[in-house]
Amino acid sequence: MENKKVIFSGMQPSGSLTLGNYLGALKNWVKLQSEYDCYYCVVDMHAITVPKEPKDLRKNTLEVLANYIAAGLDPKQVTLFIQSHVSAHAELGWVLNCLTYFGELGRMTQFKDKTKRLESSSIPAGLFTYPVLMAADILLYQADLVPVGEDQRQHLEITRDIAQRFNNRYSETFKVPEAFISKDGAKIMSLQDPSSKMSKSDSHENAFIILMDDLDTIRRKLKRAVTDSEGVVRFNDDQPGVKNLINIYSKITDKTTDEIVASYEGKGYAQFKDDLAEVIIGEVRPIQERIDYLLKNKDYLQEIYSYGAEKAEAAARKTLRKVYKKVGFIPK
Ligand code: TRP
Repeated sequence: MENKKVIFSGMQPSGSLTLGNYLGALKNWVKLQSEYDCYYCVVDMHAITVPKEPKDLRKNTLEVLANYIAAGLDPKQVTLFIQSHVSAHAELGWVLNCLTYFGELGRMTQFKDKTKRLESSSIPAGLFTYPVLMAADILLYQADLVPVGEDQRQHLEITRDIAQRFNNRYSETFKVPEAFISKDGAKIMSLQDPSSKMSKSDSHENAFIILMDDLDTIRRKLKRAVTDSEGVVRFNDDQPGVKNLINIYSKITDKTTDEIVASYEGKGYAQFKDDLAEVIIGEVRPIQERIDYLLKNKDYLQEIYSYGAEKAEAAARKTLRKVYKKVGFIPK
């Protein structure tokens, strides 16, 4: 346990995860759980950087946690917790805010994208300092590796800068973490527009599949998935819709894209899509059953997140205590 490398990652509580979140991130988190000392968090404090309805936030936080567990994260093996349960995140966040520059936060592309159409009078300061809270998440646990998508690379860079700055100004305190971006990284794209990432915030509801979609909905979304007029199952960039479907197939079955293409020689898209729908259903059905069970057994879920918070708290306090001492706060 002691000499395992530490992994930290988190997702925002957006309710049931998409097939993209599952195949692109969560399935990978599950693979890492026995080899690393993993902290997986539901980042509810990040969620309120944009206005959220309290009852939706509560529901979505529990749903994401249930999705984590149902997908195979073992609460005994990894530390599964809710960010707001460990107050050290906010506390370290403040200290790091004082080491982070206005200019560097202003260069964050995600911040710029999210605020493009907003007046400065309606941009929450929390949205601006979002990456600092994320740095606190990671640095509290002395994480070695942070599995994230390409879109979070810049946030990892600023985390490293802040860690190094603290270490230089005071003394060696934080492990400087590395982004862990999976190389087989075929991103799962929208089923309606294969040039954009599959996302639950897509206005087109057929563009994404969520783990909690009922089985007929999954079949329907597959039938309507955008392909092309070639009519041949081939893996190439000129057929981005079909390519995305092959990627999904491959990630679930562990078959190579070549094997899949070969097995659909002479068959059309309809057959391929029907088969893929069943492949997806085979994967998500047991997950759905577990999600269902967990959401009906809130006491059990509570046991899991309370236990997780305790474990996380112990690790986080250790780092925060050092930090407070180094900056010159008097121990109480
Ligand atoms: N910003 C991440 C996202 O939107 C979520 C996140 C918050 C996170 N804190 C983190 C991811 C710490 C990894 C590590 O995807």
